[in-house]
Amino acid sequence: MSSKKPVNIGLIGAGRIGSFHGESVQRRLVDANLVAIADPAPGAAARLAGMLEVDASYTDVAEMLAHPNLDAVIIATPARFHTNVLVQAAEAGKHVFCEKPMALTLEDADRGIAAAKAAGVALQVGFNRRWDQAFAEGRAAIDAGKVGTPQLLRSVIRDPGPFGADPAKVPLWTIFYETLIHDFDTLLWLNAGAKPVEVYAAADALVRPDARKDGFLDTAVVTIRFDNGSIAVAEANFCAMYGYDIRGEVFGSAGMVTMGDVRRSSMTLFGKDGVSNDTWRRDTDHFVHGYTAQLASFVRSIQSGTPVQGPTGQDARGALALALAAIESVKSKAPVRL
Ligand SMILES: NC(=O)c1ccc[n+]([C@@H]2O[C@H](COP(=O)([O-])OP(=O)(O)OC[C@H]3O[C@@H](n4cnc5c(N)ncnc54)[C@H](O)[C@@H]3O)[C@@H](O)[C@H]2O)c1
Repeated sequence: MSSKKPVNIGLIGAGRIGSFHGESVQRRLVDANLVAIADPAPGAAARLAGMLEVDASYTDVAEMLAHPNLDAVIIATPARFHTNVLVQAAEAGKHVFCEKPMALTLEDADRGIAAAKAAGVALQVGFNRRWDQAFAEGRAAIDAGKVGTPQLLRSVIRDPGPFGADPAKVPLWTIFYETLIHDFDTLLWLNAGAKPVEVYAAADALVRPDARKDGFLDTAVVTIRFDNGSIAVAEANFCAMYGYDIRGEVFGSAGMVTMGDVRRSSMTLFGKDGVSNDTWRRDTDHFVHGYTAQLASFVRSIQSGTPVQGPTGQDARGALALALAAIESVKSKAPVRL
């Protein structure tokens, strides 16, 4: 047990990922307590508070921020609310862990970054893939020069099928703002120091072609050229029938690293029909360690008063700039210069 004072955290948004983060704080971190939960949906905060043995629950975020014993917040509301809640929490003097995307416009990204800076609070964003062991080791190998100069990079995200959501309820451009935003951050992070200069994106509704007429997109490929000459590809699909498939690859002048494995474990079944493995089906199973490690790091930086280890607000802005360029490219059917 650490001798440092535990960090008291309030959760804003008690939906799917908020509930998981709340559980991580209460059950998987040793140096943090979940002391309050806020969610405007009637009963949502109270229900989760009951499950996680948290004393205070609110339907109003401002009321939660007035809690006398709160050091930091985790923001897990739908994306369109992130910036306003971030600014509100920072102005109340709370350190902020914000789920991705931190903002939907560059102006809002700047507003969020400026609010955290003005308040002198920490700001970390939920790009959990950086905290996954394979991806962290991949980045370390690149930093150690084992891949040489990066030439080709690739990042794949395929959500597990069957696709059960109602396309009408999926906000427009979600595949870029909320899905590929992870891959944009991953590619920028793996290609550290290089600046993206051109983006070209193609996207379609191949899983739900019936929703194409409403602007729904479930499949996309994005090509990104960098100023160090390297070329990256990010691709996404909402319905991989074989599981939750997250992979990365960096190929360079001296070698290659690959990261990620759809196989759930090394247990391999040899049977009469051949050889098979179980696969990941949920992000919260696949990345349980990464999701926990990112919060542990956030807590450590608050306790030690040192800057967050990343991803920072600026990192989130960089990934957002790629998402916005990809959207513009789909609209114009042409490459977009950055
Ligand atoms: N990093 C990851 O891998 C990952 C995974 C899942 C979701 N997310 C992100 O987390 C965010 C939430 O996703 P989700 O799937 O949990 O959504 P969700 O719809 O399940 O939950 C959102 C919750 O926020 C509440 N809410 C709405 N407005 C609010 C407000 N103004 N203040 C407080 N609470 C409010 C809703 O009532 C709901 O309970 C999204 O931005 C999403 O992209 C990230």
